[in-house]
Order: sequence, then structure tokens, then C-alpha cells
Amino acid sequence: MSADRKSLVELFRRHVCQTSPAPLEIVIDRAEGSKIWDVDGREYFDLLSGIGVAGVGHCNPDVVQAIADQAPRYLHSLVYGEAVEQPQVELAAKVAELAPGDLSTVFFANSGTEAIEGALKLARKRTRRPRFIAFEGGYHGDTTGSLALCDNAAFREPFEPLLEVEFLPFGEVSALDRIDTSVAGVVVEPVQGEGGVRVPPDDFHPALRRACDDTGALLIHDEVMTGLGRTGRWFASQHWGVVPDILVLAKALGGGLPLGAFVGTPELMRELSDDPPLCHVTTFGGHPLSCAAGLAALRFAERERLPERAEQQGKVWVEQLTAMGGEHLVEVRGCGMLIGMEFSSPELTADFCRRAFEAGLILNWTLHRDTVVRLVPPLVMTDAETDEVFGILEGVFRGLSG
Ligand SMILES: Cc1ncc(COP(=O)(O)O)c(C=O)c1O
Repeated sequence: MSADRKSLVELFRRHVCQTSPAPLEIVIDRAEGSKIWDVDGREYFDLLSGIGVAGVGHCNPDVVQAIADQAPRYLHSLVYGEAVEQPQVELAAKVAELAPGDLSTVFFANSGTEAIEGALKLARKRTRRPRFIAFEGGYHGDTTGSLALCDNAAFREPFEPLLEVEFLPFGEVSALDRIDTSVAGVVVEPVQGEGGVRVPPDDFHPALRRACDDTGALLIHDEVMTGLGRTGRWFASQHWGVVPDILVLAKALGGGLPLGAFVGTPELMRELSDDPPLCHVTTFGGHPLSCAAGLAALRFAERERLPERAEQQGKVWVEQLTAMGGEHLVEVRGCGMLIGMEFSSPELTADFCRRAFEAGLILNWTLHRDTVVRLVPPLVMTDAETDEVFGILEGVFRGLSG
């Protein structure tokens, strides 16, 4: 380890609040497209896209140019909602154009969890009801409102009491009769990510829409991970033709800069300017740099037809992984380029991840399922790079014991 690297790692351990006993500790030098390089020149394929962020690739040239163009014009000007800022307005209009139904009014936040908090407040204010419904295996972020929606008691209990939330089994239509007129909102990932990449049966989302319509509960789709092309459609809900009341976005939305959003009809979103005015504001939400970057990323994704590429490539990945995983894998499943490999034990999963990392692949198991490795490769990964990654993965599978 070089002296610089060693002292950086020491400072990281001492001064940067740690979230786990075993961080990867890659000392990053640079990143481009599907790859990250460390300061010792080691090259990694990023099969996580910075956890679903770098769909258009790391340091996408269009995104970098948009940041360079915007930075000298203005950075933060005024609190969100007061000034007319071109990158923010244009990104909102682009999201409105792509979003299903009449989801055409956007509230910009800084992150996924913050956008979820806004959606919860909006559902409460619209319905004046106390309860929320969420799903077993779900993950929606780590601030106190979002945390209440996360089905993992180990993460939730140290912070209770939290919001009143009832968890239903994900994908089970028969459980939806628990949704009644005391429910303000139902929060669901169309395809669960941290829950182990779970795709529900085809009747689930339409039935959930009907249950919300029947009771007046607002349907909140958390597309923080699944949105913006990742699953083969701009929004995963489009696989089932369902339009939510509130659509929540983040991660890829900023093209690599921090940005979140929740989106609703103009009529619903008026709740936030009225009775009382200013009842939901943010200083930095919709920052001009993030919006300029996000707009460039969306335009790039549109031009390069990344949702279509995600759909095609997802099929190739599932087929190849199933073939190479053999008896080590219980199942390979996915939706576009959100792919899960389920192993037979947590030990085998951890062994696979360790070996893959040593072989130059950044990947990991999901937060709520320690037997599922989730892959969210950059949507711009070339065919040649994909073949190279498959070659490395084959070697990793061959090295597994048992
Ligand atoms: C589905 C989903 N919702 C919400 C979040 C929270 O987003 P953030 O980390 O930007 O707060 C995440 C983060 O991984 C997520 O996967």
C-alpha cells in the first residue's frame, strides 16, 4: 500500500463515520463508463453502478459537459420553489413528458429518502388519515419516515417508535384487503431491490391500484432504484400499465449528482402550496447543477435508447448467469438490468462476493436478503465489456467450493 493510500485509509477510518465493520475501502482515483480505478491503478467493473446511479455510466461526457456549462452560470440561488431556474424547469418538463398518466408536477428533493418523506407528507395531508401500508422485503431509505416503511426489524427497532405502518406480503393479492379507509398511502417498489430483486406476479400491481382506488389510499411507487430505464421501461410500473398517485425518483435522476423527486398530478401537488403555503420546502432540492446533470443524463438515455438496451441485455445476463452458475444458484431472476442471483446459503453468497471483488468486480448481496447478489450494471456497458465480465464471473463460479 502506498504511503498516500495508507494515510488516506487511516483518516477515512478515524474521521469518516463508519457504517459497517468491513467497508470495501477502494481508494478511488477515477471512474468512467462501467469502470472504476483505484489509486494503485487497479481496474474494477462496477456491477452496482454506484447502487443504481450510473445508468448512463460514470462521468458520462454529456453529464460532465452540462455540469461544466452550468457551474459558472449560477449554483444555488434561492430556496426551492422561489426562483425560475432553467435546468430545474427543463428537467421537470422532461420527467413530465416521460412519466405515465398525468404525473406532470415535480417536487425536487436531494435524495431518495427525502423524496419518500415528501410523498408521505403529501399522502397524509391529502387524506388526513393516520396509517401507511408497506411490504415485506421493502426498502425506502433511512430517515425516520422511510425507515418506518422498511421491513427489517433489526434496522427499525432501535429507532422506534416510528410511523404507524402495516407490512403486507409482497406480491400477494389476497392480502390487499388489509387496505382500508384508515390508510393514507401504500408505498411499494414495483420490483423490490434490497428485498432480493423480487418481481411480483402480473396481477399484483393492477390489484393494488384497484385497492387504493376503492379506499382512497394514495398509491406511492418508489422507483428510486427501478426508474429511468433500469428495468427496460422508463418506469417499472409501465410493465403492468399501472399509474401511481405519486411517483418517487432519485439515484439515476441526477446523472451522478444528488437529486430526488416526487411527482404527482398538478391537482394533487397543489396541496403543497396551499393551507398552509410553504408546508414543504427545501433549501437545496433541485439544485441547478444536479438538474443540469440529470437533464443531460435523461437526454442521453433517450438518444441511446437505454430502456430498450436494458430490456435486451437483461435477458442475456439472466441466460448467461443461469448457465454459468449451475448448481451454486437457486435462481437467477430480474427485470431488465436489475438482476438477482440467489445462492443456497449466506456463506456461499459471501464467498462469491469476496472472490468476485478480488477478481475486479464490484458487487454485493442485498440489504435484506444475504443470499441474493443484486446486479445493476451501467446500462452503457458495451458488448465487449459484457463478454469480459462474463469471463470473469465464470472464473469466480469455477473457484467456488461445493
Ligand atoms: C427503492 C429505494 N428507495 C429509497 C432509497 C433511498 O434512497 P437514498 O439513499 O437516496 O436516500 C433507496 C436506496 O437504496 C432505494 O433502493
